[in-house]
Amino acid sequence: MDVSSLDSKLRTLVKEAVDVKAKAYCPYSNFRVGCAVLTADGSIYTGVNVENASYGLTVCAERVAVMNAVTAGKQDIKAAAVSCDIKGDFKGPCGVCRQVFAEFGLDIELYLTKPDMTYKKVLIRDLLPMAFTPKSLEEERI
Ligand code: THU
Repeated sequence: MDVSSLDSKLRTLVKEAVDVKAKAYCPYSNFRVGCAVLTADGSIYTGVNVENASYGLTVCAERVAVMNAVTAGKQDIKAAAVSCDIKGDFKGPCGVCRQVFAEFGLDIELYLTKPDMTYKKVLIRDLLPMAFTPKSLEEERI
């Protein structure tokens, strides 16, 4: 998928992230997050945050969406939209989710969205400077 066809998918991607947020399982934080991941073939995979009574087991929406894409056999992730209910500012994903995105490409475009459907585009490489990636494991060692 080239950049121009990504543009045509963007509205759908953002809408899917906003819509799926309603399915978040977040009885402890009451903080809903939705994520939609776009893969190279134009497919979209979604995820929501899933909390747990053992708080530390909570999984973020972004990771659920990435796992869903990978489980469907799609590892070529081009973009993702993330939606939460914060009105005032665009929020980036947590550090763990940045690392999980980085596994599949530092050039992944992330669209941080607000409930009014406005969005801000950032690249994973800018959210995770000096990233440790699969390539790091191939570098010369002592
Ligand atoms: N959460 C996400 O789903 N994604 C993020 O990037 C940050 C936080 C979830 C985890 C938890 O269920 C709730 O938001 C509050 O931290």
